[in-house]
Amino acid sequence: AAFSLNAVAECDSTNTQLMRQAEAGAPSATVIVADRQSAGRGRRERVWLSSPLHSLTFSLLWRFAAGSSAPEALSLAVGLGLQRALAAAGATAAVKWPNDILCRGRKLAGVLIEVQPGDIKSAIIGIGINLRLPPDMPAAIADNAIALDEVLPQSPTRERLLAVLLSELAATLHRYQSEGFAGLRDEWQARHVFQGSNVRIMGGGEDIEGICSGVTDRGELLIKTEKGTQRVITGDVSLRPT
Ligand code: ATP
Ligand code: BTN
Repeated sequence: AAFSLNAVAECDSTNTQLMRQAEAGAPSATVIVADRQSAGRGRRERVWLSSPLHSLTFSLLWRFAAGSSAPEALSLAVGLGLQRALAAAGATAAVKWPNDILCRGRKLAGVLIEVQPGDIKSAIIGIGINLRLPPDMPAAIADNAIALDEVLPQSPTRERLLAVLLSELAATLHRYQSEGFAGLRDEWQARHVFQGSNVRIMGGGEDIEGICSGVTDRGELLIKTEKGTQRVITGDVSLRPT
């Protein structure tokens, strides 16, 4: 795929910048990568912290071909692409529903997908990967975070990592476009950190507890509970081990 790569020294959030370019008609596969983000975001207005040059923070605009699947399970597909690219770089990681990449139980990378209101055929795919943890990261976050420098004897350069990632992501997105998430589901489940384990879903009203038995073709999480199997959609919920 032909990417149109924009590297900036600093911005608030690469997702915000790319959203603006998308609204102005930027083509699919436009990428913004920033050395430093002053207001990196996670889901639900949480912060994404990174220190300049020691993390890879970028966003990719993807416009889906007419008739292809809508972005409902996109964050899972992207997580799989990310996991595969990291494996190719020598780092074994797992996916965690719906949007995290974990290594040794801690968060190595995160995915934030946003769509323009009124245009569900285009997605802004934001990815942050820790190369080295920020020295001033609050302990509460650092305790659950990990960086590539802890995992690999030698971290790849940001350029190299970005190149591997973009090619793996493009391959995964093309598969997602043609086969839907159904074609990626088994592979995703095989890499899910909680597949077959006891988990709890919190934040969506009453907690749901049970065994994580997989995901649906639409990316919903399946939990086998005493009352039968329940489907959980991505939203304001958190998945935790029990
Ligand atoms: P949940 O499990 O509830 O979905 P989450 O851990 O996936 O939560 P997000 O909603 O994805 O959290 O929000 C991002 C979270 O990641 C922030 O709340 C923060 O604790 C954490 N975080 C911020 N920066 C980093 C980083 N560089 N590396 C790892 N974790 C980070
Ligand atoms: C999460 O774990 O909740 C998602 C974190 C996503 C962070 C990336 S860094 C590049 C892009 N720009 C942002 O502001 N967020 C994403």
